[in-house]
Amino acid sequence: MTLPESAQPSTALREMTWRDIPFLALLELELFTEDAWSEQTWWAELAGRPRRAYVVGEIGGSVVGYAGVDRGGEVADVMTIAVASAAQSRGLGAALMDWLIAEARRGGAGHLMLEVRADNDAAQRLYSKAGFVMTTVRRRYYQPANVDAQIMRLTL
Ligand SMILES: CC(C)(COP(=O)(O)OP(=O)(O)OC[C@H]1O[C@@H](n2cnc3c(N)ncnc32)[C@H](O)[C@@H]1OP(=O)(O)O)[C@@H](O)C(=O)NCCC(=O)NCCS
Repeated sequence: MTLPESAQPSTALREMTWRDIPFLALLELELFTEDAWSEQTWWAELAGRPRRAYVVGEIGGSVVGYAGVDRGGEVADVMTIAVASAAQSRGLGAALMDWLIAEARRGGAGHLMLEVRADNDAAQRLYSKAGFVMTTVRRRYYQPANVDAQIMRLTL
């Protein structure tokens, strides 16, 4: 059954805090398996603020996605973007990408870069739609899966 627009749970972005870390580490395992960031990695990433910036995406008050950017200079880098499987294809990924682009611009960057697995069609489509273009391929970058990384760039 499709709910009427007014009954859809609301989507919102808010700044990530250390309290989110245990849940984020669980989501990472679900979404990235062998490449998952540990709680320790999340602590280090949040300690990198304000150069790093992170948000979580909530639907109906529950955290179901997140994104982060390093915006220290002329080139900003997408550190991560992810949406829990159960909440995908509802527009949250696109909202997180809009935030990443706005945040990179606010930091004064001229370009925003990211890397994506060559076998990740959903993410590649999201990035192409946002205006990213492929620049180079790093052969067998993701190990042990032996999958290439595609490096993509958006001119801001
Ligand atoms: C990639 C990801 C963040 C997209 O999040 P999402 O909330 O599902 O994305 P949205 O609903 O906002 O969709 C935005 C666009 O992404 C693309 N997209 C999303 N899911 C897709 C799918 N299953 N197949 C193909 N394209 C897809 C489409 O272009 C879509 O736009 P459209 O619906 O107008 O065609 C999500 O699939 C995810 O977290 N995947 C696992 C983690 C991951 O791979 N992160 C990226 C690492 S580089």
